[in-house]
Amino acid sequence: MKWNSTLLDHLQWSDTIINQEAKQKVAQQISDKVKTGDIIGAGSGSTVYLALFAIAKRIKKEGLAVQVIPASLEIAMTCENLQIPVTSLLTDRPNWCFDGADEVDPDRSLIKGRGGALFKEKLLIRSGSKTYILVDETKLVNKLGTNFPVPIEIFPGSLTYVESALKEMNVIDIALRLAKGKDGPVITENGNFLLDVKFVDIKANHEQQIKSITGVIESGLFIDYDVEILIAK
Ligand code: A5P
Repeated sequence: MKWNSTLLDHLQWSDTIINQEAKQKVAQQISDKVKTGDIIGAGSGSTVYLALFAIAKRIKKEGLAVQVIPASLEIAMTCENLQIPVTSLLTDRPNWCFDGADEVDPDRSLIKGRGGALFKEKLLIRSGSKTYILVDETKLVNKLGTNFPVPIEIFPGSLTYVESALKEMNVIDIALRLAKGKDGPVITENGNFLLDVKFVDIKANHEQQIKSITGVIESGLFIDYDVEILIAK
């Protein structure tokens, strides 16, 4: 028996989609890569959201047998809404993944996590053998940290310890991400806090250094991952 859910049926992206036209183009590019039998890891964010619409269209039109492993609730609900079958990392390994990014540098290193789903996004990328990162040109930077701070997901009780440990690094600013539509801090899907951290300079060892702080779940730094960047044309 199926639910009759108006909330799910009328689900929309929660904010204005910036650069929607370019994102739509790159969404089309990724949907062209889908083939029957694929298990696809889908990251999070508005670009992924738009890509799922393009993929759902192909599934419907061509009767493709595809399963998606979503990195966030919003993407899981979008799949549900679009009738895209979902699975999980507990049962399946993705053949390939796609995701967006906040910044991409010339070495294809990334900052991700504006949407707060960085932990599961990293888990997916680590689990798949191939990942496409979908961006428009505004995401390309010469140096990581140009436009975005580095999001860091932390265990709430470790807030003060992690803050003091980060201050030993070359930080300019540390902010606790606050919620909109709820009092207090953002709580991630894993029940954690998010810090947004600006560094003087992001170095190659920063991802490992941040991860080694007790209380840090994961950071939004993706340094030197084997990803292919698809730029909206
Ligand atoms: C989500 O947590 C992020 O990593 C997104 O992939 C990133 O913020 C890009 O988002 P947009 O596709 O909405 O620009």
